[in-house]
Amino acid sequence: MARRLTRRSFLKASAVTATVSCANVSTGRRGGPVAVSSRNGLPSLALVVERMEAGLPPVDAAVLGVEPVENDPEDMSVGYGGLPDETGVVTLDSCVMDGPSGLAGAVAALENIKNPAQVALKVMRRTDHVLLVGEGALRFARAHGFPEQNLLTDRARESWLRWKERGSQTDDWIDPADNGEYGKEWIERPTGTIHIGARNAAGDLGGCTTTSGLAFKIRGRVGDSPLIGCGNYVDNDYGVAGSTGRGEAAIVTNGASRTVQYMALGKSPVDACLETVRDVARMTRVPRLLDDKGRPNFQVNFYAIDKQGIVGSASMRPSTYARFTENGPELADTAALFD
Ligand code: GLY
Repeated sequence: MARRLTRRSFLKASAVTATVSCANVSTGRRGGPVAVSSRNGLPSLALVVERMEAGLPPVDAAVLGVEPVENDPEDMSVGYGGLPDETGVVTLDSCVMDGPSGLAGAVAALENIKNPAQVALKVMRRTDHVLLVGEGALRFARAHGFPEQNLLTDRARESWLRWKERGSQTDDWIDPADNGEYGKEWIERPTGTIHIGARNAAGDLGGCTTTSGLAFKIRGRVGDSPLIGCGNYVDNDYGVAGSTGRGEAAIVTNGASRTVQYMALGKSPVDACLETVRDVARMTRVPRLLDDKGRPNFQVNFYAIDKQGIVGSASMRPSTYARFTENGPELADTAALFD
């Protein structure tokens, strides 16, 4: 991992100003299970905790928690109803990681199966592999009896159609003449996703991330969500972390494993997440990804729980996240690097 920058050297290196919201304090729950998620996971966290209390392993509880969001046609960033790629096909990415066994499973570019997290769990438990992609992932899901269906809802199709009709000014193809510096509306399209991290009363950890990825992505594009260490990571001795937002930023920083590594070095979950967001900002250098103040022009969020059950989250810009701690399920502010 790169040498850790102090706040002073970070500011000097990046020539940008940063502010950190004080609203986010790490919080836990003495003795009981805890869970953290992106804000769209809030309605699921009570179930995640309840199932851990009933003895379900944290990774299974996390997968159970993302399922209602994968099934929800109104969430256009995950599962059924997710926005399609540039060809109009919905492709899903997901990964799971289990702390006690150190095993992981993932699927990428999976079509026609609305619950990729369940398929990722099968990859982890029923194969000696970690990641299956595309046609192979679909064949594997079929072999395990997952039902197939068209995941493109009318609402998502019409949204894609409007994007097509506006031409290519918001696509991801870069003109080599300008290296993408001009003429693109880079920050317009949604990157949703759900991550759930879970810790049971025994201190065991598990995590799951699932998404339909960047809306109207180039066909074949894979984000951070199915990549172990990028969109989700667990080290049962130290913590679980996950990411939502611009997947490319979490990939190039290995954001989830970096966050767990910061916890292993003694940082609290919120500070570990914030340090990773700082690293993303420090490593973002091309003009097309910076605003007029030299700050990243995209959102990225990290979520974490440490071995002791303390929970935290940080993001590039102000945002909220969901957690289940001693206060029960609630939304809280992330620690934001920039206003
Ligand atoms: N973070 C989700 C994605 O970029 O695909």
